[in-house]
Amino acid sequence: MKRNLLFISRYPEIIDEFQGILEEKQIETEIAQNGTDAMELLKQKEYQILVTDLNLDGYNGDKIISYVNQVFPNTICMLYTNSISAVQLGFYLNKRDVFRVFLRPVNFRQEFMQALEEAYELYDLKKHDRDSRQERLKQLEDNRKAIAEIEGSDGLERLNEVRQAVLGKKGELTAVLKGMKDVAPEDRPKVGQWVNDTRSAIETILEEKMKKLEADALKKRYEAEKIDVTMPAVKHEKGNLHPVTQVRNQLIDIFASMGFEVYEGTEIETDYYNFTALNTPQDHPARDMQDTFYLSPEFLLRTQTSAGQIHVMEAKKPPIKIISPGKVFRSDDDATHSPMFTQMEGLVVDKGITLCDLKGMLDELVKKIFGKETTTRLRPSYFPFTEPSVEVDVSCFQCGGCGCKLCKGTGWIEVLGAGVVNNKVLEGCGIDTNEYSGFAFGIGIERIAMLKYGINNIKLLFESDMRVLKQIDD
Ligand code: DAH
Repeated sequence: MKRNLLFISRYPEIIDEFQGILEEKQIETEIAQNGTDAMELLKQKEYQILVTDLNLDGYNGDKIISYVNQVFPNTICMLYTNSISAVQLGFYLNKRDVFRVFLRPVNFRQEFMQALEEAYELYDLKKHDRDSRQERLKQLEDNRKAIAEIEGSDGLERLNEVRQAVLGKKGELTAVLKGMKDVAPEDRPKVGQWVNDTRSAIETILEEKMKKLEADALKKRYEAEKIDVTMPAVKHEKGNLHPVTQVRNQLIDIFASMGFEVYEGTEIETDYYNFTALNTPQDHPARDMQDTFYLSPEFLLRTQTSAGQIHVMEAKKPPIKIISPGKVFRSDDDATHSPMFTQMEGLVVDKGITLCDLKGMLDELVKKIFGKETTTRLRPSYFPFTEPSVEVDVSCFQCGGCGCKLCKGTGWIEVLGAGVVNNKVLEGCGIDTNEYSGFAFGIGIERIAMLKYGINNIKLLFESDMRVLKQIDD
């Protein structure tokens, strides 16, 4: 390093004497002969060493040292004097930082040479100290910034970013560690220690902050999810199936338990399936009771689910055991009839099927629908597709057969039509009547629903009046 020095003296002979020494040592020297000049020089630059007389014109040596101490704390100051008491010297130097005081003329030259060496050494040390102090200050500042960032960060995500920026692979602290090779060997333990201390300080703060954020988040969640158990509950309206659907499903369950399969036909049928194949040819009087909407001379809205019998028998060889639920349409409209209503057809075809099988099955069926005490009664009737045909009555489930308003005093209620399948129908479907026979029945689902739930007008089942529908939930 280049050496420099400011020499202040009012004695030309002293200046001469030491200029030689300083030149020899290749020290760049500035000379001032009084305090005023010295101050001018000091305003322009910093000197490594300052050597001054105590007594000067303008500013005294002690004043100059004071100034230098404050403005250039690294500068090493030395003072010499030739006539002063220790008390006076103490007074002058009070609170001033002076490296060495020389008293002339005692062996001054040699002492000075020696002091100069030491002063430069001290200067280097001080400078190094100052540099590392500044570096340390800068690092502390960075450190403080990192900590402030952590404390200021409000989200876990941001916190992780900060951690990355400071402790991560490309983080600031890691960079310091990587720069370790440039640090003087004797300083490495100190710097290493410092990095470790900083790292653990930041980690602790990060951890605490993380915990706090997590706790805050949890608290917020608890707050948001708080339930006031004393609040009245929100009412959930519970819906229920339409009574017709309820009865339909109950019937399907009962028949399924007896081994029946479900066949669903179509609402648009041909004249053939709806009538002719059911032994009701054109001009048959039974057609009068089942007038319907004709889409064409061939196609119509089916009047009975009985049409399904034909489809099944055409498609399948006996044994046959099906039910066929669905909508049917007729030109009928009064308190117990509707232009659209629901039926459930039943068909059993097998070897040796008789009216007894029908009766046995019906008894079982009505017990399940209306209650264990219920029995059936068959009355002769007429349907073109069954021979013999019957009307099925059930014993009145309300009065037990004694006679009431529901059964109109008879003790019996008519519920469905049935019969042994007419041979003409079986033969029309290619079934050998010597081998097979069958029974069939047709249930009006609305009729069952009205009986079961005490509904006196079939229209109530099609008006969607919630006051009615809500009451029926089986
Ligand atoms: N299809 C008839 C009607 O709508 C009801 C019926 C009666 C169906 C007797 C049958 C039966 O299968 O055998 O009036």
